[in-house]
Amino acid sequence: MRRALTLLVSALLPLAAAPAAIAAPEPAEARAVSASTPPMGWNSWNKFGCDIDEDLIRQTADAIASSGMRDAGYTYVNIDDCWMARDRDARGRLQADPVRFPGGIKALADYVHGKGLKLGIYSSAGTHTCAGYPASLDHEEVDARTWADWGVDYLKYDNCFNEGRPALDRYRAMGEALRRTGRDIVYSLCEWGQNRPWEGLGRQVGGHLWRTTGDISDNWTSVMGILDQQVGLERYAGPDGWNDPDMLEVGNGGMTDAEYRAHFALWAVLNAPLIAGNDIRAMDDATRRILLNRDLLEVDQDWSGAQGRKVRDDGDGEVWAKPMSDGSVAVVLLNRGAGNAAVGATATELGLPSARSYRVKDLWSKEQHASAGMIRGAVPSHGAVAYRVWPGATKAAPLTSFTLTGPELVEADRPFTVSAGLVNDGTSPLLAARVQIQVPDGWVLDGSPLRETAFVRAGGSFTATWTVTARPIAAAATVRMTAAAGYRTTAGAQSRWSEIAPPLVSAPPTGANSVSGLPFVSEVNGWGPVERDRSNGEQSAGDGRPITVGGVQYATGLGVHAPSSVRVYLGSACSTFSALVGVDDEKDGRGSVVFRVLGDGEELAVTAVLPGGAAAVPVDVDVTGVRMLDLQVADGGDGNDSDHADWANATITC
Ligand code: GLA
Repeated sequence: MRRALTLLVSALLPLAAAPAAIAAPEPAEARAVSASTPPMGWNSWNKFGCDIDEDLIRQTADAIASSGMRDAGYTYVNIDDCWMARDRDARGRLQADPVRFPGGIKALADYVHGKGLKLGIYSSAGTHTCAGYPASLDHEEVDARTWADWGVDYLKYDNCFNEGRPALDRYRAMGEALRRTGRDIVYSLCEWGQNRPWEGLGRQVGGHLWRTTGDISDNWTSVMGILDQQVGLERYAGPDGWNDPDMLEVGNGGMTDAEYRAHFALWAVLNAPLIAGNDIRAMDDATRRILLNRDLLEVDQDWSGAQGRKVRDDGDGEVWAKPMSDGSVAVVLLNRGAGNAAVGATATELGLPSARSYRVKDLWSKEQHASAGMIRGAVPSHGAVAYRVWPGATKAAPLTSFTLTGPELVEADRPFTVSAGLVNDGTSPLLAARVQIQVPDGWVLDGSPLRETAFVRAGGSFTATWTVTARPIAAAATVRMTAAAGYRTTAGAQSRWSEIAPPLVSAPPTGANSVSGLPFVSEVNGWGPVERDRSNGEQSAGDGRPITVGGVQYATGLGVHAPSSVRVYLGSACSTFSALVGVDDEKDGRGSVVFRVLGDGEELAVTAVLPGGAAAVPVDVDVTGVRMLDLQVADGGDGNDSDHADWANATITC
């Protein structure tokens, strides 16, 4: 009776109190610990897809060893989909594709092991892999045994072609088969978070990590979408059971370096498995510096008993924090907005003990500063500042943030305002502070570009504001304005710098304009870039096909992928927008989307849900008086798979 009561009480305890008690994990002695920290390595999929062979895997192993990545902890060299032959061998075993992997996987594993690395492989808990190769459902024993014989150290187990059979059975069958091999194989579940594996299934089937979402793609929208889905999952992670927000896209070319730094820092505070997804053989320095940021790797690999979580959300500014086992806190200050922003949280919000001062280390620049309790940073658009914060005194200079802000776009001859704010979050004053702005030649400022103040007290700030009048340069060029700040502190002279680069816009010329020929103020796209006069090819610019909807081909227009937003400046100079809209025929009837036209934030037109294969629908909108036109496409309610949407013949008449 007492036992039953105890069980009942523990079942009622909040999950956050005892992460390890969520599911009945396998007894610790049943298998060696395979993933006591989040696994690190590389995987072929994000960069190479099915275009893989044994040379690539060998060369990648070489590059991981020679680039310093191996020594930094990147251990697993993982082959994703498409390594198998189309048929099993006479004894029912999977075999490697004889053309692309003529030496077989065992030889490859030996090679990778010889480099001091481990080899990972891929299959699906279905009849076929996602790319259509033979997979492991009902072949669990033989496949696990085959991989163990080859010396495989890691299995990523996907969810395609699962015949609708229960995930628990399918994933458990493989987990048990892996365990029976007696080999220490990391088991990575890839069921896209569909069964909330963090709540129980993941550990029940012997998984060491589980995907929490659908696939990542190499763009900011994807990374932010995945980030949003991590909120609340922190309580479920721990040694041998990690939330996996999917592999890294760092270095694959679809994001800016600032975006990649944010992606990496966020993954680190999330204790995410760090599986690089780029071409390690040809990394540029920026990519190398991101993947090899030792401070962030330390954050990722440190297990303090809690995964990092979002501690503050101010809309575009977010603060994510993770307690470290030495009592410090790792902090990521994220700016999702279009301009610079100062983002921060108090030491208390970050979970730090109360103290008179804090030592703040910038994990990118390695500079250290002293804060009185507000942990703030100047964060560029689509970027993140990463800090580690310790309570306690330091002689370092005060923590400051310096941010230049201005309008999102600039029109010639129309005055606008820019401000440069210098905030002192330190414990001592800034002396003889000078703030100076620089604008393009010929532009007019109201007064001196230099503003000075003798003293910015601890906890205070100094803001300089200018009215600027732009002169025409080339239409649509971005214009760079920079500001520098300098001041003295007890720890010596310091300088700061900030820039903005808004587009210099002008209204479209009089007459009918193809939207594909006009500059975009901004674009957001579910996959790849927005295409001009092409359909959406999902990857690089220009990779689509001629725009075709309902069997009709169109010479002009935009090819986008939901969710999408394309903003075009009209400057109140135009009268109508028209287009023929629908899902591109290249998706063979799949996909469904909704098109929406907004003027200065107000909805001017919206279509019904348009399915793939349907004829194009006309959209004609009065845009009189509209300064900013926003062409949006949302998915039709069934996920954005195949949502290749066309704004055929998109035309603005001014
Ligand atoms: C699924 C997975 C991806 C990748 C591909 C391979 O989409 O989620 O990570 O493994 O399959 O086909």
